[in-house]
Amino acid sequence: MTAHIIDGAALAKEKIIQLKQIVTELQSRGIQPGLATVQVGDDPASRIYVRNKVRACTEAGVTSVHHDLPGTSSESDVLQLLDQLNRDPKIHGIIVQLPVPRHLDARRMSQAIAVAKDVDGFNWQNLGALVEGAPGILPCTPRAAMVMLDGANIPIEGRHAVVVGRSNIVGKPVALLLIGRGATVTVCNSRTPDLGAITRLADILVVATGRAGLVTGSMVKPGAAVIDVGINRLPTGKIAGDVVYDEAKEIAGWITPVPGGVGPMTVAMLVENTVNAASH
Ligand code: GUN
Repeated sequence: MTAHIIDGAALAKEKIIQLKQIVTELQSRGIQPGLATVQVGDDPASRIYVRNKVRACTEAGVTSVHHDLPGTSSESDVLQLLDQLNRDPKIHGIIVQLPVPRHLDARRMSQAIAVAKDVDGFNWQNLGALVEGAPGILPCTPRAAMVMLDGANIPIEGRHAVVVGRSNIVGKPVALLLIGRGATVTVCNSRTPDLGAITRLADILVVATGRAGLVTGSMVKPGAAVIDVGINRLPTGKIAGDVVYDEAKEIAGWITPVPGGVGPMTVAMLVENTVNAASH
């Protein structure tokens, strides 16, 4: 039997429609939610991601203001802009699109964003809240993975979740969210010896390594829910995930496609974090 496809694009569209209603209510109370996006340099993938974020904001009625800084910008140039945005009452959320050029310290950028406007959830206060399960702004991609599971009514509590990937943006935080929901969580990475022996134990398999085709069909437990967070551009120009989709969909119970899976939902989560930040 082939897997149920979790249609991230459709779920994200529904989410944006719900958010638009909330934005309309906020507007009637005189609040216009605003997101500031900052890109430093000319990374082509970042340009596409930022464009998608701006478009989703527009669809939800959220104002977005994009700041394009040259790749030669100094750290103080960026920090100065962030300081100005932190103080701007029309801006409720701020993101610096990653990666930033190598001469800049991404951590320092994340730390410079006001906690209440940190809609990527990357600064230490929000990450600390995530560790404790306290209220805070949660990072968008891990939230998107959870919303995809919930959208497909996949039980989490008591299940074995395997996360492949250990990044600060996805692997670590999604593991924490799964722990918070009562899953038994194993965290691996692309270099884990005999990775398949572990992924085959997973009722829920979240893959976020940035390596196209790392997880093959034979590494998936029959009936598992497979959440593919990877977005890789193949030499052919095609976009593919970290999971060999055509194989895995014949074995899994549920699977997210790439493109059209976690990606659009991540963007919707950013809009939601911004709307929430404007509501407080
Ligand atoms: N680059 C890759 N993922 C992300 C993300 O979630 N937020 C930002 N700002 N940059 C990214």
